[in-house]
Amino acid sequence: MIQEIDKYLKEVAGFTAKDLKAVEDFRIKFLGKKGILNQLFAEFKNVPNEEKRIYGQKINQLKQAATEKVKQLKEQLENSVEESTSALDLTRPGYPVEIGSRHPISIVKNQIIDIFKRIGFNVSEGPEIEDDWHNFTALNLPEYHPARDMQDTFFLQQNPDWLLRTHTSSVQTRYMEAHQPPIRTISPGRVYRNEDISARSHCIFHQVEGLYIDKGVSFADLKQTLLYFTKEMFGKSKIRLRPSYFPFTEPSAEVDIYWGLETETDYRITKGTGWLEIMGAGMVDPNVLKNMNIDPEEYTGFAFGMGIERIAMLLYQIPDIRMFYENDMKFLEQFKPVV
Ligand code: PHE
Repeated sequence: MIQEIDKYLKEVAGFTAKDLKAVEDFRIKFLGKKGILNQLFAEFKNVPNEEKRIYGQKINQLKQAATEKVKQLKEQLENSVEESTSALDLTRPGYPVEIGSRHPISIVKNQIIDIFKRIGFNVSEGPEIEDDWHNFTALNLPEYHPARDMQDTFFLQQNPDWLLRTHTSSVQTRYMEAHQPPIRTISPGRVYRNEDISARSHCIFHQVEGLYIDKGVSFADLKQTLLYFTKEMFGKSKIRLRPSYFPFTEPSAEVDIYWGLETETDYRITKGTGWLEIMGAGMVDPNVLKNMNIDPEEYTGFAFGMGIERIAMLLYQIPDIRMFYENDMKFLEQFKPVV
């Protein structure tokens, strides 16, 4: 008798069910009116006296185990039924998919690239950690040249020959090393300067620089190209070039566009003049061409460079350059495409 109960105990312990029907069958088999337990209880009177105590304990144990098992399996199956039906409820509304937005720096960068691509410029890129040669020396800025101070530089501590590029002109030197004229390329990218961070300037910003080298490239070509750009980018068709100095171009110029004085904002951003400086430019210095093994007797070229942040600030009327780097969702979401 006792052995028989032990066998049932094992059966209960090992029982599993794949649906509620199997659990119910199991319950009826053990706990139903005519179930095993009731039969065992009925047997009780026939058990020899000396075995009664242990027999009683065993059937109680079996009853408990069977009851517990039924409860546990029911819970398990009911939960999983809920889960699987909820996963399959095709009538439930879907989760909304949030549309992201491009960063304003990328939007403006892509616009500039598009404009220059249309007149045959390709896009070139280079490393942000540069060596002295590509960032300075090759660009007619030898060591101790005072004009190096125009771009306050972050040097790498391990090796002062390495630095964080201060402009993407470094990409142009790499490009000239690898390609012979005709060259028509624009170089967008991130640059670094050791400057105090304020509403107007930052130690990290972005540039697009352009380079055009071929036979017979003149200052008139430069001016016409810049005019084309300002028309496409800003819808403004008046520019002026003021004499300036860059070590890598001769002659050099600062390029201003006539923004106008129609609104109060125009007055504020142009300081009442109507003119806005948007880039530096000039004819590539023959020394730079020589450094790059390009014959300055045969080829001439022009170059220009502009800050993307500055242009984005003008186009979107962003008052503080730091907003570009804070990744504030409220700021970024304004640049979502309208769908
Ligand atoms: N590299 C210059 C700068 O970062 C910009 C520039 C490029 C000026 C090409 C002239 C010609 O300030």
